[in-house]
Amino acid sequence: MTASLATVAYIGATILFILSLGGLSNPETARRGNLFGMLGMGIAVVATILGPRVTAIGVPYIVGALVVGGAIGLYAAKKVQMTQMPELVALMHSLVGLAACLVGFSSYVDTSVAYTGAEKVIHEVEIYIGILIGAVTFSGSIVAFGKLSGKIGGKPLLLPARHALNLVALLVVIWYGREFVLAPDVNAGMTPLIVMTVIALLFGIHMVMAIGGADMPVVVSMLNSYSGWAAAATGFMLSNDLLIVTGALVGSSGAILSYIMCRAMNRNFFSVIAGGFGGGAPVPKAAGGAAEPQGEVQPVSAAETAELLREAKSVIIVPGYGMAVAQAQHTVYEITKLLREKGVNVRFAIHPVAGRMPGHMNVLLAEAKVPYDIVMEMDEINEDFPEADVSMVIGANDIVNPAAQDDPSSPIAGMPVLEVWKARTSIVMKRSMASGYAGVDNPLFYKDNNRMLFGDAKKMLDEVLGALKG
Ligand code: TAP
Repeated sequence: MTASLATVAYIGATILFILSLGGLSNPETARRGNLFGMLGMGIAVVATILGPRVTAIGVPYIVGALVVGGAIGLYAAKKVQMTQMPELVALMHSLVGLAACLVGFSSYVDTSVAYTGAEKVIHEVEIYIGILIGAVTFSGSIVAFGKLSGKIGGKPLLLPARHALNLVALLVVIWYGREFVLAPDVNAGMTPLIVMTVIALLFGIHMVMAIGGADMPVVVSMLNSYSGWAAAATGFMLSNDLLIVTGALVGSSGAILSYIMCRAMNRNFFSVIAGGFGGGAPVPKAAGGAAEPQGEVQPVSAAETAELLREAKSVIIVPGYGMAVAQAQHTVYEITKLLREKGVNVRFAIHPVAGRMPGHMNVLLAEAKVPYDIVMEMDEINEDFPEADVSMVIGANDIVNPAAQDDPSSPIAGMPVLEVWKARTSIVMKRSMASGYAGVDNPLFYKDNNRMLFGDAKKMLDEVLGALKG
């Protein structure tokens, strides 16, 4: 393939990536957006392999790597549960970071192209920044993976004088950057490069460890953004325009997502990055991880729940992480259909950080074929709870916690929540009194108009469906 044909293919792939992002902004066009993305990536890979920069000797290695990588990807995609998706995404981000580091080191030791003068300085700055972003992304994403999978606790790790530590690390990185660019040869430049890499790796760990459980959504989207910038940096190092554009698209859309997440959680972006949010206050817990009693909870049976639903004119369903765990979305939709046939106005209320990844609930409901026009964003529906007869919370906890509004000392204080307790009756479906991801007690469970339907969401909803049909 000639260089100009490869460039045309790259431009085509870039357009497809932009169309893909556009498509992903709406559930109705998301499938098409994914197709555009896959097509763009296919074209990009073929154009790169057949392009002028890959010699015939390199092709078998690339094809071998494609087969191995593709097989691992296929296996992971088939095996991973929907609830493990965020961990998988974090792991993928770490690989982008690792790739940026490896490309950086290899382009530094690669002497086949002799850079001189200003070109040499620019190339070395690209390498230094590329490895810096790559290393932070790599280690930060590994810690995020650990936190999301529950292998590392959600409580923020707050080192004494952490801001001073970060500042010193930044100054050392800048100083070694100068040493690196001024180094007379590759051997002399290696020491500053390695020192910076180690500092960047430690910084990545420190940055994510300092962020509390409740603020993880911001971290996930932020690492998404970093992985984009790491890819763009790799593109600069390899002089690959497509990688630069794609990386910049991912980087900027991740940054916009981080902003949206911060707004959804009423957080200041820089305060989240500085750490310490979302878990600073002591979390009162009784033995066994259960919330401390604050009154009497009123359990309800599946049959009673069905009765409440049958008598209602307006029902608002709030899905959360537990619905994803139980894979209860199909039964939820069966119940919705049945109630709508009986003339009940059923709507879904989606909190921006429900579940464990952006759009988690929308994906599940779309999979169950719930019509989009009854799936409402938090801002669209929060005012309607006082008019609802029943609000049904399915495996959600933090996103319906009134402590966010009432208790200024709560780690989730200030986070906007769905005001389910304002409905005539709220029903919370979960297995126990355990707290949610942020580890915070939920006073909703003890409210007079609240009922608890204890059990696995899928099992309980099946019983509710049976009772409704009966
Ligand atoms: P959570 O607050 O985590 O609550 C989920 C609840 O589901 C738990 O209290 C659990 O209680 C229940 N549950 C688990 N398995 C269940 C099952 N099989 N059947 C029934 N219930 C089950 O979830 P949420 O309300 O969706 O809030 C999301 C939280 O995750 C927020 O704190 C958010 O900041 C955080 N987070 C979000 C993201 C993104 S981007 N969305 C990323 C990382 C973290 P039991 O154990 O008693 O059943």
